[in-house]
Parts: sequence; C-alpha cells; structure tokens
Amino acid sequence: MNESAIHILVLHGPNLNLLGTREPEVYGRTTLQDIDAELAVLAEELGVEITTFQSNHEGELIDRIHAACSQGVAGIVINPGGLTHTSVALRDALSAVAIPAVEVHLSNVHARESFRHHSFISPIAIGQICGFGVTSYALALRGLTRYLGQ
Ligand code: DQA
Repeated sequence: MNESAIHILVLHGPNLNLLGTREPEVYGRTTLQDIDAELAVLAEELGVEITTFQSNHEGELIDRIHAACSQGVAGIVINPGGLTHTSVALRDALSAVAIPAVEVHLSNVHARESFRHHSFISPIAIGQICGFGVTSYALALRGLTRYLGQ
C-alpha cells in the first residue's frame, strides 16, 4: 500500500449485500464482492487507496463517516440505498465531516417510482451518478479522484 496515496471510503447502504440475487432485472447480477474487487483494481490504476464497507444499519454508516475524519479519508463514494430518500441523519453526518462525497446508484432513480426522485444526499454531494449499473461506481471513483486532484 502506498502510504502517501489519498484514501477514499466507499460506503454501501442497506440491502446492497444482496446484489446478485436482489431484483436482478433492476440491479443486475453482479455481486457486491465483485463490485468491490473491480473498485480495488481501478483504485490501483488511479493510485488511490480505498476502503469499502457495507451496512444495513443507518447508525453504523454514520459511525464510519464520523471515523473517516480521524482516519484521514479525503473523499467518500456512497450508495446510500433506500436511506437516500429518507435519511436526514446520514446527510447530516456527511455535512458534519465535510469530506467531499459522491452519491452513487446502480439504477436510474429518476426513471423509477416518484419516492426515489428525491434525495436527501444530493444537495450536499459533489454530484450524483446513477443509471449505469456497476459502472456507476467506477465513474464515481474516477470523478472523485479527479476532483481531489489526484
Ligand atoms: C439504489 C436505489 C435506491 O432507490 C434503492 O433503495 C436501493 C438501491 C441503487 O443503487 O439503484 O437500495 O441506491
């Protein structure tokens, strides 16, 4: 591991541990493990260090965001799952640490049910990437790395 490399935290929210079998017509057949492995290869190529973490619990995600400060995390890629549309607390955590974050979704949330059109996260994120399936994550990591000047 390159000690001087910038550190990016990749967070996956509720139900994303079920990728591969969860509504494959919406989310595809790629597992979360495969996504994380693909991101690890891309991180190597980009010269950044990544840590990935999935939780079904809002508080655990918030704790990881708080810890990111003392861990020297420079940027966050987050797919908040359903918490995107409900969680003021997750948004407040990201605002509190003021670490640049990119919001990611596999599906195009704007082309789905109306309750998915609103995001509590988007207004405090650098940007949102959605609709490209697993490639959404790669685009987010590339974009965030460039944003951080790496
Ligand atoms: C999702 C979209 C959300 O609306 C949904 O609740 C998810 C997955 C996506 O990646 O497309 O859990 O974040």
